[in-house]
Amino acid sequence: MNTVKPPLSDDLARVLIDEDSISKRVSELADEINAKYRNIEEPLILVGVLKGSFIFMADLVRRLTIPHVVDFIAISSYGKKGTERGEVRLLMDTRENLAGHHVLIVEDILDSGSTLSYLIRTFGARGTKSVETAVFLDKPARHVIPVDIQFRGFEIPDVWVVGYGLDYKERHRTLPYIAEMIPEK
Ligand code: XMP
Ligand code: MG
Repeated sequence: MNTVKPPLSDDLARVLIDEDSISKRVSELADEINAKYRNIEEPLILVGVLKGSFIFMADLVRRLTIPHVVDFIAISSYGKKGTERGEVRLLMDTRENLAGHHVLIVEDILDSGSTLSYLIRTFGARGTKSVETAVFLDKPARHVIPVDIQFRGFEIPDVWVVGYGLDYKERHRTLPYIAEMIPEK
């Protein structure tokens, strides 16, 4: 194993969550999910919100022991800046028919709550058996719309974070840790 770590990029302030902490927490979340859904009859459908959730999803599903299917959606949201409510629209829907299944939405980060509240409502109207959420990061200071989160990785302060799927203008998405950006002047 190569243990020499490249230096932190100069637009990043600090590492907020390191690789080992991420790995340990994702294992704990997978244990909780395995326990909660151990008796389901149909496979659990995990729906990842692109692009930010793809690394969290990949790490999570490789630790699941229950029957499951992986799917993704893409959304766009408007009105994030300057308005209280972001308007969310589906750009790419699931390939799976969700009816009759337990669904777990897999999201990178909970901010205002508009994305998840929209998705919970939309999937709940499709004849699903249940719709729950696994969120890697949560920024409680930013919540506007209350959302029920069943599986939560870490609470973080109100700073812009990148890595582990999260980006700033597509930068830093594939860093193996979560880092805090230095705000642009
Ligand atoms: P809402 O407001 O719908 O937002 O809960 C969820 C989405 O906001 C984005 N987001 C971030 N993306 N670093 C990012 O890379 C952040 O610190 C951050 N905060 C919010 C993200 O796309 C998420 O899906
Ligand atoms: Mg994003």
